[in-house]
Amino acid sequence: MKAIIHREYGPPLDVLRYEDVDEPHPGDGQVAVRVRAAGVNALDWHLVTGEPRVMRLVGMGLRRPKRTGVGRDVAGVVEAVGPRVTRFQPGDEVFGWCTGAFAELVVTGEDSLVTKPPNVSFEQAAAVPVAAITALQGLRDEGEVSEGDRVLITGASGGVGTFAVQLAKHLGAEVTAVCSTRNLELVRSIGADHVVDYTREDVTASGERYDVVLDIAGRPSLLGCRRSLQPGGRLVLAGGEGGRWVGPLPRMARALLLGLVGDRTVRAFEAKETREDTLALAELLAVGHLTPIIDRTYDLPAAPEAVRYLEVGHTRGKVVVTV
Ligand SMILES: NC(=O)c1ccc[n+]([C@@H]2O[C@H](COP(=O)([O-])OP(=O)(O)OC[C@H]3O[C@@H](n4cnc5c(N)ncnc54)[C@H](OP(=O)(O)O)[C@@H]3O)[C@@H](O)[C@H]2O)c1
Repeated sequence: MKAIIHREYGPPLDVLRYEDVDEPHPGDGQVAVRVRAAGVNALDWHLVTGEPRVMRLVGMGLRRPKRTGVGRDVAGVVEAVGPRVTRFQPGDEVFGWCTGAFAELVVTGEDSLVTKPPNVSFEQAAAVPVAAITALQGLRDEGEVSEGDRVLITGASGGVGTFAVQLAKHLGAEVTAVCSTRNLELVRSIGADHVVDYTREDVTASGERYDVVLDIAGRPSLLGCRRSLQPGGRLVLAGGEGGRWVGPLPRMARALLLGLVGDRTVRAFEAKETREDTLALAELLAVGHLTPIIDRTYDLPAAPEAVRYLEVGHTRGKVVVTV
């Protein structure tokens, strides 16, 4: 079968190869999925470039990648099931996460998959797992957003942000979304009550106060973010890049120190893929309370260009590879 693989770290267009590889077979508790679509995430280009380099120290492979497959989010049709799989059978339409989703066939644990709602396309379903789980956990668990809260979201027009705006509205919040000029209409159309154009205005200097700031872009100053919180408010750091060696770690460390003083909480978090949250998101998709926004799709051989496009940092919603 065909798959996108990498044997070394580097720029996506240089190191990602479209090659023939052996088909995987499902083991105990595993499901083989014929891939129809795979979502692209910031995580993918970090794994491809091997940056920030600190990631290589924590299991990625010091000199070259331990895992050659690329892609996490997957949607497709169950092809075969291994022993002791109880939830799925061949022909079921599913979505979830795996290792090496940019491929014609993948194998993953049955706990990593849920049934795809019929009203949602494979492309839309593949856009969901990592980005929507990050948005959900950032708002619900870290931000503890509840009905009536005033929530500020930076990076609102990107992959995580377009889910965050919709989920914050679903949780009953009044949402202020920050993005650039060309995306103002997009974020309004998915439910933002107020929009701020970061190219014209520093949202943290406006004097407005929020119960929760979900910082996905990692751009506003930390002091500014904290200044934008009501007493007792929560600053949640979900994203942001940084240098080639340690990435966003210095910013996160400064943020956590900032959280030690005063009555505003500061949290940085890493999302955890869970079946429970993926099921919750599938329900929202099924009833139309959540609609993935797809910026571009690329076919499998063009997946390196998809990763490169995401790396530039100005996607509008999600980028998806179709197989
Ligand atoms: N914590 C976790 O577990 C977790 C999970 C997933 C992702 N992340 C992180 O979250 C971040 C966003 O991921 P994503 O998938 O949403 O990325 P994305 O789809 O590339 O979106 C990036 C967004 O950042 C905005 N942006 C770019 N430059 C900006 C600036 N100077 N000021 C304000 N906004 C700016 C872009 O909007 P414009 O085009 O309008 O500029 C775009 O909407 C990444 O750093 C990623 O690593 C963290």
